[in-house]
Amino acid sequence: MSTAPIMERPPIGRHGRISPAEAQEFAAAKQLLPGGALGGNALAEDVKFVVQRGEGSRFWDVSGNCYIDYVLGSGALVLGHAHPAVQQAVADQAMRGTHFFAYLNEPAVKYAERLRPYIRCGERLRFTTSGSDSTFHAMRLARAFTGKPKVLKFEGAYHGAHDYAQLSTTPKRGSNFPAGIPDTAGIPEVVQNLTLVAPFNDIDAARAIIEANRDELAAVIVEPIQRILSPLPGFLEGIREITAANGVLMIMDEVVTGFRYALGGAQEYFGITPDLATYGKIIGGGLPVGAVAGRADIMDQADPSTKANPGYVYQNGTLQGHPLGCAAGAATLSVLETPGFHDRLFAIGAKLRAGLQEVFDRHGMGVVVFGDGPMWHFLFAEKAPTTYRDILAADGRKLGAFDTELIRQGIFVLPGVRRFVSALHTDDDLQETFAAFDRACRAFKA
Ligand SMILES: Cc1ncc(COP(=O)(O)O)c(C=O)c1O
Repeated sequence: MSTAPIMERPPIGRHGRISPAEAQEFAAAKQLLPGGALGGNALAEDVKFVVQRGEGSRFWDVSGNCYIDYVLGSGALVLGHAHPAVQQAVADQAMRGTHFFAYLNEPAVKYAERLRPYIRCGERLRFTTSGSDSTFHAMRLARAFTGKPKVLKFEGAYHGAHDYAQLSTTPKRGSNFPAGIPDTAGIPEVVQNLTLVAPFNDIDAARAIIEANRDELAAVIVEPIQRILSPLPGFLEGIREITAANGVLMIMDEVVTGFRYALGGAQEYFGITPDLATYGKIIGGGLPVGAVAGRADIMDQADPSTKANPGYVYQNGTLQGHPLGCAAGAATLSVLETPGFHDRLFAIGAKLRAGLQEVFDRHGMGVVVFGDGPMWHFLFAEKAPTTYRDILAADGRKLGAFDTELIRQGIFVLPGVRRFVSALHTDDDLQETFAAFDRACRAFKA
């Protein structure tokens, strides 16, 4: 693994030819994997790469090109790649055994104990294996608890890959509220009808839909910062109040915000206590661990000693409470607990946004840079968006083309998707990023 100081490293960006090794891996991927991809994201032919290794804020592809990473494992890697404390914790645990089914194991129990004080609503906690797993089980717990079938989500919000979540996540046109637009083929219509959709940041619209559907609505699930949209003052408070008044549970999806915006996540950052909260990403320290936490009376429906009861809720998974993931998560948490960690993380985000806006303005690009804390994005638009439809109205083709140019210049972003910073992004990284944006603006204008 390279330990060369940054100044001695070769410059970021795509240089030269694709190596025979990477070409061979592309060919294998193309033949074996649908679309040559591991999941829902594939890059344009001329910028695609196979990652070989990562360290801190950077990674290298098989041809030896270096990138500054702002995707960061879709936000899981708040400490960057291959953090020594996380590596050590995983290695130590691997020597003691890697897997014990979803059965009590020491790293999981100890980790749950450490997480508990930070989760406002978390009287009880269940580990899962991903964010999707967490939201799926939270919705089931809510339906069982209330005896009602429907869940309301917001337009543009992402809560995972399952059938109850894949409605109006990235619709190409506005949803006809409260009906959602499926994001994928394969969701039975009967299931589609169980997910209602409301506009984010419009409390009056949300109130009207919740009140009209209160007898069928089990829960409202909300991303407290929806992808990159900050909640308008009073929005989350309003959702808390309206759900409580209508016998509807509030699920705060903290898969992204959890432990990122504060140790207590968005619940602490915004001062809101939901009934249930869902976790993924940071909580697993880069390994597959998620969690559902919440009120004891809701969570205890999943007590296996009550299996004979009609109200028992099945919540299980072969890999849940995974000891390696809990060790990685606990090691990550120890770093997050160091004094001033979040202030430093926020400062990196603020400095990056300010510097990028300056570069864009210098080139007269007509771009607005926005975001809160450790997340950032930009749009070809006049002002920062507050709703999904504002994002839809911005020039998405230009954004995609500019993002692709950024990859050429050695800045890894997923085209069109909001970005993160890690605590390992240094001042040198930011300076190199500004220079890369400058080159990208020149290339783009040319
Ligand atoms: C807010 C939110 N919820 C749920 C999920 C699903 O998590 P996973 O991809 O781990 O299944 C994501 C993933 O990006 C997310 O951002």
